[in-house]
Amino acid sequence: MKKNNYQFMLAAVLVLSFTACNQPQKNNVDTADSTAKTSAYQTEVDGKKVELFTLKNKSGATVTITNYGGRIVSLLVPDKNNKLTDVVLGYDSLSSYRKKGEPYFGALIGRYGNRIGKGKFKLDGKEYSLQINDGVNTLHGGFDGFFGKVWDAKQMGDDKIELTYTSADGEAGYPGKLDVKVTYTFNDDNALKIDYEAKTDKTTVVNLTNHAYFNLNGEGNNTILDHELFIDANAYTPVDSTLIPTGKITPVKGTAFDFTTAKTIGKNIEDKDEQLKFGKGYDHNFALNPHDENKAIAKVKSTSTGIILEVYTSEPGLQFYSGNFLTGETKDGKGGKSYPHRSAICLETQHFPDAPNHANFASTTLKPGTVYKSTTTYKFLK
Ligand code: BGC
Repeated sequence: MKKNNYQFMLAAVLVLSFTACNQPQKNNVDTADSTAKTSAYQTEVDGKKVELFTLKNKSGATVTITNYGGRIVSLLVPDKNNKLTDVVLGYDSLSSYRKKGEPYFGALIGRYGNRIGKGKFKLDGKEYSLQINDGVNTLHGGFDGFFGKVWDAKQMGDDKIELTYTSADGEAGYPGKLDVKVTYTFNDDNALKIDYEAKTDKTTVVNLTNHAYFNLNGEGNNTILDHELFIDANAYTPVDSTLIPTGKITPVKGTAFDFTTAKTIGKNIEDKDEQLKFGKGYDHNFALNPHDENKAIAKVKSTSTGIILEVYTSEPGLQFYSGNFLTGETKDGKGGKSYPHRSAICLETQHFPDAPNHANFASTTLKPGTVYKSTTTYKFLK
């Protein structure tokens, strides 16, 4: 390089770095490298407009949500070095969310979160048959579940979005027209609150949840086996080989299912235990100890990023799923990543799976004139 060229370059670098240092600081966190692109979500599905919405708080932490399936697409929170880290698995485009066999990344789940045995239940003496989409059972509402519906969206400021959906009488086999409203609120304490509400015109069953896949090391960054987990549950509901609860509510003490004192997810996951064999790892409903919405019922921590997730809920149960069915086969995760076996944890707040077929489980029946209400908060600390 000629000398005068070199001097010019040096001067330019000095001017640029001086300008950068004197820019007002917008956030107290580094900007993230992984943000969902709005244009990849602007399309129409079933004649309805799909979009990507952003909730942002004072510190610059953001959540993006699409009204396709009410899905959380990205969730960027600061790690111990104040670097914004995307802690949920997802894709870069809507088409991946719509592919066959997609594992419900970030989705709103309904009408019935988790499984209903053989897809059958009775209400007022009448038997109803649902869509069989998981071996011999119905999972997460059936093929026609809420995860694949386009919700009507109303953004209310930087911190809130309201999603509504009306499920027709008989949709996916469930009785009654169901009007559902879900509100996501993201506050300055990096807490994402999800409020669910539903009303029906005929007696029906409802169990709503969210299916975010968390990796607190950052999505696509290894497995979650090193995450430390605490669950405030002295009991869980064991399952049969098709993952339907047997009806028993069994103490966790002395088993691999005891998370009443925090331990890593990997610690006992390979134990010789019939329940772990059925789930191919953890895929079980925990019967939460008595709590209210102000007490964390679960805590997860990544020691590498220092990010801690606390879960608060009004629900009696928590499905802890250790991402056992993730295979890492496709490379359509964010930025072309693949998501290998056990590279995420789902903490789905819920009434117990298959409750319509177990009189000893809290009822999931909703009658006309009453309102279904449920609240869950995912709060991030470091
Ligand atoms: C279930 C798993 C299932 C997964 C689907 C979880 O809620 O418990 O068994 O494979 O959803 O992604």
